[in-house]
Amino acid sequence: MCGIVGYIGSGEATEYIFDGLKRLEYRGYDSAGIATITNGGIDRRRGEGKLVNLEKKLREQPLAGSVGIGHTRWATHGRPTEFNAHPHTDGSGKISVVHNGIIENYMPLKEELIEKGHRFVSQTDTEVLAHLIEDEFKDDLEAAVRAALKRVEGAYAIGVISTHDPDTLIAGRKSSPLILGLGDNENFIASDVPAILPHTRKIIYLDDEEIAVLTRSGATVKDLGGNTVDKKVETIEWNPVLAEKGGYDHFMLKEIFEQPQVIRNTIGGRTDEEHAKIYLEEMGLSVEDVKKLKHIYIVACGTAYYSGCVGKYMIEQLARVQVEVDFASEFRYRNPIVDESTLVIVISQSGETADTLAALREAKKRGARVIGIVNVKGSSIAREVDGVLYIHAGPEIGVASTKAYMAMLIALILIAIQFGRMRELVDVPEARRLIRELKRLPRLIERTLADVGNIQEIAETFFEARDFLYLGRGVNFPTAMEGALKLKEISYIHAEAYAAGEMKHGPIALIDRNMPVLCIATKSATYDKVLSNIQEVKAREGNVIALVTDGDEEILKFTRDVISVPETEEILSPIVNVVPMQLLAYYIALRRGSDVDQPRNLAKSVTVE
Ligand code: AGP
Repeated sequence: MCGIVGYIGSGEATEYIFDGLKRLEYRGYDSAGIATITNGGIDRRRGEGKLVNLEKKLREQPLAGSVGIGHTRWATHGRPTEFNAHPHTDGSGKISVVHNGIIENYMPLKEELIEKGHRFVSQTDTEVLAHLIEDEFKDDLEAAVRAALKRVEGAYAIGVISTHDPDTLIAGRKSSPLILGLGDNENFIASDVPAILPHTRKIIYLDDEEIAVLTRSGATVKDLGGNTVDKKVETIEWNPVLAEKGGYDHFMLKEIFEQPQVIRNTIGGRTDEEHAKIYLEEMGLSVEDVKKLKHIYIVACGTAYYSGCVGKYMIEQLARVQVEVDFASEFRYRNPIVDESTLVIVISQSGETADTLAALREAKKRGARVIGIVNVKGSSIAREVDGVLYIHAGPEIGVASTKAYMAMLIALILIAIQFGRMRELVDVPEARRLIRELKRLPRLIERTLADVGNIQEIAETFFEARDFLYLGRGVNFPTAMEGALKLKEISYIHAEAYAAGEMKHGPIALIDRNMPVLCIATKSATYDKVLSNIQEVKAREGNVIALVTDGDEEILKFTRDVISVPETEEILSPIVNVVPMQLLAYYIALRRGSDVDQPRNLAKSVTVE
């Protein structure tokens, strides 16, 4: 997934665009570039690797102009070289394009254009788009862009500038996010809100197969047929500081420490302890709808998938509805058994993950009711589901998801309690107890966060490990899976998670003194079983890191590497237990010198297959 920024106004386009790209660097960072209209032509600077390399070039050779486009890239087609860096131009050098997405039919289009005499200098699908616009251009740039996009298959968010129409900035999108920012005599395009928030809070979300024509005085949105489309101008409440690091060394650490507040924000006004009620009207499910539920799919990717695995335990335990959790990339291709009686819940922080978006479209095509648990307002998934439950985690910039995962768990337990109440399986006292405990969680997590020193010491002991094993049971088996993902994606250590009861069926062969085993052994119905698993590991010289409930002395017989967390309801324990694992992964990655906020090979939202 890449980052796009465009500017048209009276200021220096390069300043606005570079500042915006820096705020989007989490979206991809293997090359970057900016192009502006200056001195009657198009000029461009591009750099391989991170933005600092582009910054150096801009310092050596400043780029003037008050209309421009910029791009920070996560390579899909073509190696991350300067030649493949965006913006790309057409053969005449009069049209320049930046693009996020994948043009699936770029090869046949490229062959057709080469037949017509076009010459290409890069391996990218984006350069084909620039030549396609040139090929379609008669005397109207906007018409040429629309005609070109009609010929394109796949996903795109694009920005276009041209000396054919030097006082215009054109944007278009299909399946990849793109927003317009409306300023005073200046307007913007961007892949995401943080890029332009310091300059304007007035935002328009483009929808699929729409283009926007921006001038200094305003913006017009049209469909690909050229018909004007009325769009709502939204006002973003976030303040720019929120989207900055707030004094922490990394966005990830800031977002871990924001979690107590995030829980309060996700719960918001959705609970009424006195009346034992949960308010989730935005999902659009009636009591009748919930009572006749027979089967629920939860579909997502990565961390969102693991939150769904926790949600399965919560919903099955409280609402007694069968829940099947599936990776979106599997669900969309396995001809799933879905019909009008199926409820599909898709979970996505970004609301732009291509596999999850495709899975929801597949589910809707088969007649299912689809609900979304989403963080980013106005995102593609949020706009295509039948009902959306926003998790209000605020902008999550660190590539490794933390506070959004926490917010997803809160949303899922709210759903589980509400479904349990609607199906008359959760009585008033139980609902009150759970709601009361939910409201205690922020304080419990604040206490857990205070244990940072102990976790840093454990990180110091184990940061050189080559392999890690994470074990959990029941509702904390998915917690172990999420813990393992956190470690592997930012420290690059191989980490696997297993249901603790599975150890004897193979994984125990892996155990030796070089294999740290993090075991979730907090208070639960299966605590004694987990203790036996710990003994099995110790008997084979394994190094156990135990996550236990405050006051557990028993564990000290087996290991000194202990992380303790406050007690809570077992069904809520994944919400507390994940925090030490986030911190452990963070401090191990830090000790190994990884780029915590922008881990290698990853992007914040995978908007391509
Ligand atoms: C989580 O730390 C990863 N960055 C990744 O697995 C992520 O959860 C996954 O790509 C899904 O993203 P989404 O929630 O935006 O759909």
